Amino acid sequence: MIWRFSLIFLVLSLVARQSHAGNVQGDNFCGDLMCTTAFVNSTAITYQMTALTQMGWMAVGFGTQMTDAKMVIMWPNSDGSISLSQRTATGHVEPVPDPSPPRIATTYQPLTTISSTMNTLSFTVPKDDTVNQSAVWALSFTNPDSTSPNASLIIHNDSGAFTLNLSKEFDPNITQIREWL
Ligand SMILES: *[C@@H]1O[C@H](CO)[C@@H](O)[C@H](O)[C@H]1NC(C)=O
Ligand SMILES: *[C@@H]1O[C@H](CO)[C@@H](O)[C@H](O)[C@H]1NC(C)=O
Ligand SMILES: *[C@@H]1O[C@H](CO)[C@@H](O)[C@H](O)[C@H]1NC(C)=O
Ligand SMILES: *[C@@H]1O[C@H](CO)[C@@H](O)[C@H](O)[C@H]1NC(C)=O
Ligand SMILES: *[C@@H]1O[C@H](CO)[C@@H](O)[C@H](O)[C@H]1NC(C)=O
Ligand SMILES: *[C@@H]1O[C@H](CO)[C@@H](O)[C@H](O)[C@H]1NC(C)=O
Repeated sequence: MIWRFSLIFLVLSLVARQSHAGNVQGDNFCGDLMCTTAFVNSTAITYQMTALTQMGWMAVGFGTQMTDAKMVIMWPNSDGSISLSQRTATGHVEPVPDPSPPRIATTYQPLTTISSTMNTLSFTVPKDDTVNQSAVWALSFTNPDSTSPNASLIIHNDSGAFTLNLSKEFDPNITQIREWL
């Protein structure tokens, strides 16, 4: 419950902050181990990944399946830093660092929180024209135990595929936000 109330609070804070600038567009999806919320503005898309469980690393990949998805993998480190690694995989094998991802992802600190009640990691990518965003998610309980974006990863505990409608409008109404969670 605490996890979910914290998530509502964070989502509301962001909606409240951005609503001055107009309507917030984006969409949300929850798999069994993590939720992904995407917020769109004129220049950037912010992806917030929230763990619903113990978390070592979390990832969102752009594509319909793990193979060839453009992945953004993030994890917290014991020194308090956050690592972000953009990778691809040729199959159901460990993804390798992508030296030239089509969209560079940047950690978004305001929506990145690691605490005893909340593990949420966020990144932004430049906005593109995609509306129906096909994506995959993955979460592993095991931390890479290295800050390097090249660190080797222990395989995910679960993963899945989803689509987000990036032209959807968020209703800044707590009842609605509750329904997404
Ligand atoms: C768009 O969102 C990004 C990340 O949330 C933020 O840094 C940027 O200032 C926003 N731009 C506008 C025009 O609101
Ligand atoms: C959105 O993308 C998914 C996955 O590619 C596809 O199954 C779905 O039909 C698409 N929806 C629309 C309205 O294009
Ligand atoms: C990761 O690997 C690439 C390619 O081997 C290398 O260029 C880069 O310096 C490495 N980065 C780190 C932080 O080790
Ligand atoms: C999750 O991963 C850990 C180690 O990474 C493993 O020990 C455990 O069995 C996994 N659990 C599930 C449900 O896959
Ligand atoms: C996405 O949301 C917009 C705005 O609500 C809607 O008009 C459009 O039909 C939706 N597209 C899909 C693929 O669901
Ligand atoms: C929020 O949504 C609920 C249920 O749809 C509605 O009853 C309520 O009036 C809404 N509140 C606001 C401030 O729009």
